[in-house]
Amino acid sequence: MYVCNCNGLTQKQVHEAIKNRPRDVEAVYRYHQCQPQCGRCVPDIREMLDEARETEAA
Ligand code: FES
Repeated sequence: MYVCNCNGLTQKQVHEAIKNRPRDVEAVYRYHQCQPQCGRCVPDIREMLDEARETEAA
């Protein structure tokens, strides 16, 4: 499933970037050598990051 249609980033790819402990949403795009374009996916990626941090902290 695509999270970012502009860059063709899938949920799997975003999780892969998150495993590398990005500091912020920008770092997730950088990991895949792209950058936000329309920005529609930014809240979704932020949410995925937050969830990963919460899981880590638990
Ligand atoms: S859907 Fe990700 S930048 Fe547009």
